[in-house]
Order: sequence, then structure tokens, then C-alpha cells
Amino acid sequence: MIIDAQHVSWRRENKEVLKDVTWQVKKGEHWCLVGLNGSGKTTLLKMINGYIWPTTGSLSVLGRPFGKVDLRKLRQKIGWVSSALEGQIRGHALPRDIVMSGKFASIGLYDEVSSEDREKADELLERLHATSFSSRPFGTLSTGEKQRVLIARALMASPELLILDESCNGLDILARERLLSLIEQLAKSESAPTLIFVTHHVDEILPCFTHSLLLKEGAVYQSGLTRDLMTPENMTAFYGGSVIIERHGTRLSMAVR
Ligand SMILES: Nc1ncnc2c1ncn2[C@@H]1O[C@H](COP(=O)(O)OP(=O)(O)O)[C@@H](O)[C@H]1O
Ligand SMILES: [Mg+2]
Repeated sequence: MIIDAQHVSWRRENKEVLKDVTWQVKKGEHWCLVGLNGSGKTTLLKMINGYIWPTTGSLSVLGRPFGKVDLRKLRQKIGWVSSALEGQIRGHALPRDIVMSGKFASIGLYDEVSSEDREKADELLERLHATSFSSRPFGTLSTGEKQRVLIARALMASPELLILDESCNGLDILARERLLSLIEQLAKSESAPTLIFVTHHVDEILPCFTHSLLLKEGAVYQSGLTRDLMTPENMTAFYGGSVIIERHGTRLSMAVR
């Protein structure tokens, strides 16, 4: 079991941000976490990374129940790519160093690196099609290029769980498809970590995400197989009927009604 959340809630300032969330992620599954802004997605991920604790309920991540776990060790096994991380990286940092820093979960590169580390970083940059800009300062990269570097950085520590929190935000439609196809290749690779792909755009949901969790106002709306949930009818109901959702092959598209 990768994630086992049982009746988890989280309360702040008299507000129940997460409400009775029960969610189980098993090895071999890849999940989409879908919900509008403010539905509790990032809060749930913070909890999985041990930055906040359930007010009630129980949570176990990578087989380690909270309360009995060394959070630093746990976080080494979880990769988390988010816009908050992107904001912390210095503009003059070089992609290759950024990737290597993933081994130490540090923002800059302060530790001694071995030739194996360098090789691994180069392999990952190649896997993310990032070799051509691997020696250009991070600040000069496009949003899509930055995301690819940060995903390679997360993979450097060989995580068991990789969380991609709204990775496609700010990408133009072609850059988005390029990133999605790299994520799909990653999901299909044999050594892939369990992926959790967070989005509020149904058109980013790829079939490689076998399962989906739909969050609405902090509660689980539905969870299950992506192919069962991602129907135009179901997703239109999820968004409250204010959108038009259509199927195009294996993907959905969405427009405001
Ligand atoms: N520390 C906090 N104290 C009070 N409210 C919070 C706190 N963190 C998040 N929230 C609220 O919880 C809700 C869910 O936020 P978040 O998890 O960031 O949503 P999402 O990632 O789905 O957009 C929001 O209404 C947000 O304002
Ligand atoms: Mg969020």
C-alpha cells in the first residue's frame, strides 16, 4: 500500500478543509487528483508529505503509519514537483546541478557528487528531453523546460511516489502536450514510481492514470477507475453542470457552458 488514508479530516480556523477523506493507493496504480481551486488537493498532499497532520483519522504512507515514522526518511522517498518548488530555485542555478541536488533533497548543490550521480543526472535529463538546455541557467528556461528539469530532479532520489502538482499550469497547448507525453512515457516505464498527477483540467487526464480521486470542497466526491469516472456525463455533474465536456478519443475536453 502506497497511501492509506482512513477518515482523514483537517480543521483550521473553524473550517474543515479536509472532510472524512478515505483514499487508498496501491503499488502499480497511477492516480489523478482532480478538483477545483480550493478543493483541498494541496492540503491533502502536504499531509501525505508529513507537513501537516490529520486532525482526526489515520494516515499511512509507503507502509509507514504517521506517528511512527521518521519524516525526513519518508520525504526522501517522495518526489513533489510544485510551483512552490519552482519559486525556490535560483535563476542562475544550472539544470544539471538542480537535478543532482534532488539526491540530497536540497535546493542548492552543497554535497559532494560522484561520477555515478553525474551520469544519472544526465540520463534523467535525457529522459525528460532536457539535454539541449541542461547547461543554461534555470532563469532563462521556459515554463515547460523548468518543469522537465524539476521532474528529473525529483527522480534523482529514485522516489517510490512522485507527486506532480499542477505541472501543466502556464504551459501553452503544445508545450503541455509535450510534457504530458513525457509523463505518460514515465508512467509506462518499468521502474516508474507511483504517480499522483494533480489538476483541475479534465483535458490533462491521460489514460495512463489508472485511477482518479475527485475532490470537492474538501470531501471525496468519487474515487475509482479513471475510465469509469472520466465520462462526459459524470464530469459535467462533478463540475456542477456549468461546463460542456466532450470525449475525444481517450481524452476529454472541457468548455464553459
Ligand atoms: N493553513 C490554512 N489555514 C486555513 N485555511 C487553509 C489553510 N491551508 C489551506 N486552507 C484553505 O483550504 C482550502 C483548500 O486549499 P488547497 O488545499 O490549497 O486547495 P487546492 O490545492 O485544491 O486548490 C482553501 O479554501 C484554503 O484557503
Ligand atoms: Mg493546489
